[in-house]
Amino acid sequence: EALLAAGGALAGKHVLVTSGPTHEPIDPVRYIANRSSGKQGHAIAAAAARAGARVTLVSGPVNLPDPAGVEVRRVETAREMLAAVEAALPADAAVFAAAVADWRVAAEAGQKLKKDGNAIPPLALTENPDILAGIARRVAGRPRLVIGFAAETQNVIAHAQAKLARKGCDWILANDVSQDGGDQSGIPGGVMGADRNAVHLVSAAGVEDWPTASKAEVARRLVDRIAEALDRQET
Ligand code: CTP
Ligand code: CA
Repeated sequence: EALLAAGGALAGKHVLVTSGPTHEPIDPVRYIANRSSGKQGHAIAAAAARAGARVTLVSGPVNLPDPAGVEVRRVETAREMLAAVEAALPADAAVFAAAVADWRVAAEAGQKLKKDGNAIPPLALTENPDILAGIARRVAGRPRLVIGFAAETQNVIAHAQAKLARKGCDWILANDVSQDGGDQSGIPGGVMGADRNAVHLVSAAGVEDWPTASKAEVARRLVDRIAEALDRQET
C-alpha cells in the first residue's frame, strides 16, 4: 500500500543496488563470467523497496524475476554495469552485490572462433573497471553510504578489511564461500545460488558477525542498518 511505503524507514531515499554476474564476450557465442545467482542483490533491492525507498537495480544476466516496486536496468558486461550505475546516480546509498568479472578479453572476436587450425586461441585479458571503487572514490555525487561485498575462500576478515581500505567504501559485507552457507548441500562453494548466508559486517568501527540467515533475512538486516545510518547522518 502506498501509504505504508510512504512511512517506511527508507521513504524518500534512493537506493542503488548491483546484482548478478557480468558476462564478458570472447566471441559472439562465448563469454567469461563469475558464478552468481543474483539472489542476495535482488533480495536487498526488494527489501529496500519494501522499506519505502526508490530502488534502482542494475543487474547482470540472472534467472530471477524483477523484484516488486524496483526499477531494473539489465546489463551484460562490467562496462555496461558501470555506465548504468553512473546514469542512476545520485543515490543516498549504493550496495554493490554484483560478482563483476575482473577481466575481459582484450580483443573480442567479431566471428565465432573455430578450432579448424592446430593452434589453441590464446585469450589476452584486460582489467575491467572497478565499479565499487570508482563510485566510492568520487568527490562529487558520492552516495552517502557505499557498501561492497567480499566473497572469500580464506582469511575472510583480513581480506575484507583490505578491500574496505583499498576501495574506499564505508562497509563491506564479507562471506566465506568455501563453506556451504548453511544450505546443508555440503558442496564447497555452495553459497553460490544457496539461500543461506553467513556474513560479517566490516567497517571502520570494527567487525560484526551476523548469524547465519537466509539471503532475505540478511537483506532485511542490511536495509535496517542502512536506514539507521542515513538517519544518524541527518541528525
Ligand atoms: N566490484 C566492482 N567492480 C569490479 C570488481 C568488484 O564493483 N570490477 C565490487 C563487487 O561488487 C564487490 C566488491 O567490489 O562489492 C568486491 O569484489 P571482489 O571480487 O571481492 O573484489 P576484487 O577487488 O575484485 O578482489 P578479488 O576478486 O581479487 O578478491
Ligand atoms: Ca573480483
